[in-house]
Amino acid sequence: MNSGKFITVEGQDGAGKSTNIGVIQDCLTQHGIDFVETREPGGTRFGEQVRELLLNSADEQLGSRAELLLVFAARAQHIEEVITPALKQGKWVLCDRFTDATYAYQGGGRGLADTDIASLEQSVQGNLRPNLTLLLDVPIEIGISRAGSRSEPDRFELQQASFKQKVRDCYLQRAQAEPARIQVIDASMTLPDVKQSILKSLTAFINSNK
Ligand code: TMP
Repeated sequence: MNSGKFITVEGQDGAGKSTNIGVIQDCLTQHGIDFVETREPGGTRFGEQVRELLLNSADEQLGSRAELLLVFAARAQHIEEVITPALKQGKWVLCDRFTDATYAYQGGGRGLADTDIASLEQSVQGNLRPNLTLLLDVPIEIGISRAGSRSEPDRFELQQASFKQKVRDCYLQRAQAEPARIQVIDASMTLPDVKQSILKSLTAFINSNK
């Protein structure tokens, strides 16, 4: 049996991931693709508990290295319990964030070395990498105003604009380095235009994998 495909969705806080994941789900369903939807940090019972620790704004003393290891601890469990079994069964996996977020937030934002992240990536993931990543990109001012219109900001949303700029820059650099995998979607457009742009990339990917 063919193994499934692994799709991730990335973007700074407030880029519109939650709204647009629905577009991706609908498209996969319309193409008759059996998929599992999940998220990081999270996706398992343990991972959701780690997510609480990571996002809890009261826990602001958490150091960058502890943050990095927590992210990968949750990811190790997620891969073993959810992602690998689904892919082996031929299902596709749609994941809201994955390791590109670690490079962007813990690498770009917090300033941890890419080499440290890369060695954890290799150790935890082996050869597992997303087959397609849709990166929703907006200027940080738009992200801040969209995220600000929601309720309580989490620990990352509370970071300064300079942190958010570094996160965005890092995502865009990664997209430049891996243009075939990471498709940049200009998420500052109107919702219908963003939807069209997502569907264009996704449909091309689906058609090339049928
Ligand atoms: P979100 O899934 O609601 O966007 O929130 C998750 C937050 O966690 C987001 O601000 C980015 C952050 N994060 C990291 O810092 N590193 C990671 O590896 C992942 C997956 C998320």
